[in-house]
Amino acid sequence: MKPAVILSEDGALDFGRRVLEAAGVAPAKAHLVASVLVFANLRGVDSHGLQLLPHYVGQIEAGDVDPAADGHVVSERQACLLYDGEHGLGSVTAEICCRHAVRIARQHGLAMAIARETSHFGPAAFWTSRISAEGLIGIAMCDSSPQVPPWQGKAKRVGTNPISVAVPHLAGRGWLLDMATSTVALGKIEQAVLNNQTELPPGWALDSEGRATTNLQAALAGFLMPLGGYKGSGLGLLVEILCGVLGGGGMAPDIAGIRQHGRLARVNHTFLAIDVARFLPLDEFHARMDWLVQHIKSAPPAAGFDEVLVAGDPEWRIEDQRRAQGIPILPGPWKALQATARRLGM
Ligand SMILES: NC(=O)c1ccc[n+]([C@@H]2O[C@H](COP(=O)([O-])OP(=O)(O)OC[C@H]3O[C@@H](n4cnc5c(N)ncnc54)[C@H](O)[C@@H]3O)[C@@H](O)[C@H]2O)c1
Repeated sequence: MKPAVILSEDGALDFGRRVLEAAGVAPAKAHLVASVLVFANLRGVDSHGLQLLPHYVGQIEAGDVDPAADGHVVSERQACLLYDGEHGLGSVTAEICCRHAVRIARQHGLAMAIARETSHFGPAAFWTSRISAEGLIGIAMCDSSPQVPPWQGKAKRVGTNPISVAVPHLAGRGWLLDMATSTVALGKIEQAVLNNQTELPPGWALDSEGRATTNLQAALAGFLMPLGGYKGSGLGLLVEILCGVLGGGGMAPDIAGIRQHGRLARVNHTFLAIDVARFLPLDEFHARMDWLVQHIKSAPPAAGFDEVLVAGDPEWRIEDQRRAQGIPILPGPWKALQATARRLGM
């Protein structure tokens, strides 16, 4: 599909920042949130890019997210930190918690920071990349509003609860896994709606009776598919346990999605940082990772493919392309962005 507009990285950042400032977000916070969204666009993860701005603005306007809140540390005991986001912007909470996780992991070798009463933090890879850039293994996850039924069920019970893991890499471009625990994130269904598609790829969705469907309307009336069937159900619940249950905040049905206004978001985030150097020298870790990735890639490509990739490869490639050629924004998302900007008097 032909894009409505192609934005440079700076242009996209500026647009995002200005929309958020017009919605009442302070400049530094607006810059952070815009950076998180543009990070996703640059990597080709458009479901978590500027497309989310109208929803973030809607949450602020409805009073569900307080753009002025910074949150506070509830407790810190050795490697464990609990944070209360005070219903602030998810990226603001995540930024603070990642900084705490890096500091604590340097001190104790490991850190786990859980933030409760916060909101959407965008693409989980933004946060794990922050931690891995410090020479630590970063793990991030969050819960989200229920969209996924348990395997063998036909009612929404868990969110698309993503998991990301980033490992430190000399060139800054290591193995970087970032995935929803449903086959795909809800934003990809939204993209299909915004782009006027009628069909979805197989495996993405279930209809209201819990049967697999590729029909967009049936999917909208139904559910997102747990990744790989019952295993995704297990992973989604694992994320809810490590975020919602352990954090002591809201749990599954308490979490409001970015598209639901009039309710506090009550999202939970969990960040882990692991100091590689407590196990083996960082150089040795880099060398062993390089060997392992090469070993994986040495597998002969399956029929229909010409190479084997590892997590992170597709996004690094798109990032190179988009840094050079700009970020294409398709007509549907662009229309929604323009409507939000106009409503804010821009
Ligand atoms: N904040 C939230 O509430 C929330 C909820 C769900 C998802 N998300 C975000 O949505 C985004 C998209 O998630 P998704 O699950 O739809 O992404 P996806 O289905 O595109 O899967 C992405 C992962 O698979 C890897 N991958 C893709 N093709 C590959 C290949 N051929 N070989 C090897 N690895 C490959 C990618 O590198 C990446 O790690 C993520 O950034 C996630 O954090 C956020």
